[in-house]
Amino acid sequence: MGKWDVLAVVFLAMMVMLIAEAAVVKYDWTVDYITASPDCVEKLVLSVNNQFPSPTIHAMEGDTLVVRVTNAIPTEGVVFHWHGIHQTTTPFFDGAAYVSQCPINPGETFTYRFTVERAGTYFYHGHFGMQRAGGLFGSLIVSISLHKEPFAYDGEHSIILTDWWHKSIYEQQLGLTSIPFRFVGEPQSLLIQGRGSYNCTGLAGVAPGSLNCIVCNSTNPLCAPHVLPVMPGKTYRLRIASVASLSSLNFILEGHTLTVVQADGRYVKPFQVDNLNVYSGQSYDVLFTTNKEPSRNFWAAVNVRGRKMSTPTGLAILQYLPNPATLVPLTPTPVSPAWNDTAASVAQAKMILAKFGYEQAPPLKPDRTVTILGTQNMVDGHIKWALNNISHVARPTPVLAALKYNIRGAFDSEPPPDFPIKDYDVFAPPPTNYRNATSGSPVYVFTKDSVVDIIVQNANTLTPNNSEIHPWHLHGHDFWILGYGEGQFDPEKDPAFFNLVDPPVRNTVAVFPYGWVVIRFIANNPGAWPFHCHIEPHFHMGMGTVFAEGIEHIPELPTQTLGCGLTKRLMRL
Ligand code: C2O
Ligand code: CU
Repeated sequence: MGKWDVLAVVFLAMMVMLIAEAAVVKYDWTVDYITASPDCVEKLVLSVNNQFPSPTIHAMEGDTLVVRVTNAIPTEGVVFHWHGIHQTTTPFFDGAAYVSQCPINPGETFTYRFTVERAGTYFYHGHFGMQRAGGLFGSLIVSISLHKEPFAYDGEHSIILTDWWHKSIYEQQLGLTSIPFRFVGEPQSLLIQGRGSYNCTGLAGVAPGSLNCIVCNSTNPLCAPHVLPVMPGKTYRLRIASVASLSSLNFILEGHTLTVVQADGRYVKPFQVDNLNVYSGQSYDVLFTTNKEPSRNFWAAVNVRGRKMSTPTGLAILQYLPNPATLVPLTPTPVSPAWNDTAASVAQAKMILAKFGYEQAPPLKPDRTVTILGTQNMVDGHIKWALNNISHVARPTPVLAALKYNIRGAFDSEPPPDFPIKDYDVFAPPPTNYRNATSGSPVYVFTKDSVVDIIVQNANTLTPNNSEIHPWHLHGHDFWILGYGEGQFDPEKDPAFFNLVDPPVRNTVAVFPYGWVVIRFIANNPGAWPFHCHIEPHFHMGMGTVFAEGIEHIPELPTQTLGCGLTKRLMRL
């Protein structure tokens, strides 16, 4: 055998090993509304196979997931975004409506097929309209064998957190686009793994059985708290993810210290907290030891932070076996740091650093820097959010298809304006010449493999003395968080303080009130990737954009992703 034959044999053997290891994991889903009472109040809830939350996906690193989705919602399309999964070579299965694909129409079936490249705690959710807030979400857990993890544990649990409204997402969405503006308001409940508990006695409902009735039943088993059973004297891994629509959440496991080991599926230098901020779009893996009084159970709790709290604490039960799950803790429910203690939030965010030897350091310099100023503005009398004074609107042609097949007129070909922050006072409401924004759908195009820095600058809203938290999420990538700061970013001075040694790697970063954050990523994933605030109302009020890269390397798009907008003309055969 010649040298090349030997290599070929070795290569084949490796392929066989790989094939033997990586499995194909299949799911068959039907999406529809169900009537459910996640917090004791009955309403329509979006579900997969009649389950809420939607089923948890379990896979091993390197597996191929095949999810066959049938849309049984009679009145609207649906798509699924796999939040945190990079979709390398499969950008068309990213599941962002009108970016990576056309919505799956009522009655249609669509099959997602992609590899889960990296172990970690992820999730998926509807990405069309406000479907995530309507209940369309579930966990996506990618494991590796335990001996490969740089930490040890005896068992694991996972929980997905959200906030919950009794109003339908259609009423919510209409209110957000109306004149006068009608905000969704603060949530009625906080749900842990789809369970919450609304106080029925305070609810002015119409009598059950009548039209428009509100059925609130606090003995409904659907609103019994979620239970996390544990054995005393062990160490557990808890996977926590937030798909909250609006709220920044704070998680507490009563009396137990949490050791944070992963953030958004990436390894962090372990650190300990007794309460953990989880912004929408983020996930954390924490370890805790069951070394407390074993004759009782404990609270697992979530509270709202960053907005004035009017929603009761969301509760689940940490059950020390063999106590019954019904043994409710007699202790008061856990209290989080003050909602407006931004300093505490920033301090905790800064504790998150990459684990040395497990995550790579970033390239030292960017090839291109983009500044994004996020502001609240008016567009034709409507309240909107805008980036560099453009409020994003989705167009009916998927951006990915428009780029791949060079379809003109599908989005705005003008690149977004660059923004000189220097002249902008981030501590005041937008000045008159900046108060009105325009609507648009510009796309940032990056050279393949270039290193990109994004400076996300936060500012005052339209209301004096008000600035909000925005968790920014990037599809198709993880990024390094080089630095956080307060006030206006200073391009002369601030880069000197960037962390280029062990910055955390993530897919979602919180930008704090009046603050800025700088992220760096490598544009090495051909495709079109939304970059947006993960707060559902903000996103629908225009707080997002699309990054595209390596356009010439975008693979052929499966026909099932096309057929809407200007891609109709591609379907003639
Ligand atoms: Cu989890 Cu584009 O979002
Ligand atoms: Cu936001």
